[in-house]
Amino acid sequence: MNPGSAGQFDIERLFSVAGKLALVTGGSSGLGLMMAKGLLQNGARVIIASRKQEKCDMALSELEQYGECSAMVADVTNTEQRHALVAQVQEQAGGLSILINNAGANWGATLEDYPDAGFAKVIDTNLNAVFSLTRDLIPALTTAATEQDPARVINIGSMDGLQVPIVQRVPTFAYSASKAALHHLTRTLAVDLAAKHITVNAVAPGFFESRMTDYVFAHFLKDIEDDCPLHRVGQPEEIVGIMIYLVSRAGAYTNGTVIPVDGGTSISKGKRDWTE
Ligand SMILES: NC(=O)c1ccc[n+]([C@@H]2O[C@H](COP(=O)([O-])OP(=O)(O)OC[C@H]3O[C@@H](n4cnc5c(N)ncnc54)[C@H](OP(=O)(O)O)[C@@H]3O)[C@@H](O)[C@H]2O)c1
Repeated sequence: MNPGSAGQFDIERLFSVAGKLALVTGGSSGLGLMMAKGLLQNGARVIIASRKQEKCDMALSELEQYGECSAMVADVTNTEQRHALVAQVQEQAGGLSILINNAGANWGATLEDYPDAGFAKVIDTNLNAVFSLTRDLIPALTTAATEQDPARVINIGSMDGLQVPIVQRVPTFAYSASKAALHHLTRTLAVDLAAKHITVNAVAPGFFESRMTDYVFAHFLKDIEDDCPLHRVGQPEEIVGIMIYLVSRAGAYTNGTVIPVDGGTSISKGKRDWTE
């Protein structure tokens, strides 16, 4: 057994992402922007992709100060635009070390009013597009992958895919179903892609501040905090930290997992004071 050579466990070495190329879908805001920043601040090169030019431009103007970053306008649910994104990634020398499937959509409505089109849009964005993009990027991921340092795919799931959503006054049927399916897709892809030295993991966040959570934070923040054993929402460092672990040397043997980052909300039944 090798008990560890000098410097082998240095934090800098164990958690380094320097020089790796990462694609972050939905990198123009919220969690995606946080993760893009985290990668750049630690020496990775980053491509972000999202639908709106203006959001990409704004994000890029912020991100460029931290390192080598580019942005591409691409709707991951649109086959043509997804192919253009894949082509752009394939042009980069050395292949793609990190794919973060983060772009996501939600739709809230009561069961009776829940439209088929809304359901389909959420499944298309949160599940179908992740499958198609990951499949189409296998050649680029394979180029960067080695046995010691596999290429990494991280799917951003949700604690809502682990349990029935806690904010039940805004029903999100498609969202929780899409995230549960994404967690399972993560496991099946992990087994399939292991032979190519590509690992696949999912992160299942609890509540973090973003455009997607604007409404529930404005209306139900106290419920959210009450249902979390830590009585608070997540902070940027707490999503960036788990991502850095998963894409660095430290996370190279972690494969096919779904890691909740939710302050314990998904394993708690809540500790609300039920009195009026
Ligand atoms: N915030 C939370 O508390 C929380 C909790 C659990 C899970 N999540 C997950 O975290 C991920 C990021 O969400 P967020 O909270 O950061 O929300 P957000 O701020 O609304 O970010 C969503 C990002 O995805 C992009 N996007 C949406 N649809 C897209 C599409 N079809 N193609 C390409 N890009 C698309 C958006 O940019 P454009 O509008 O320019 O396309 C934006 O950059 C999602 O998968 C979400 O389900 C978030």
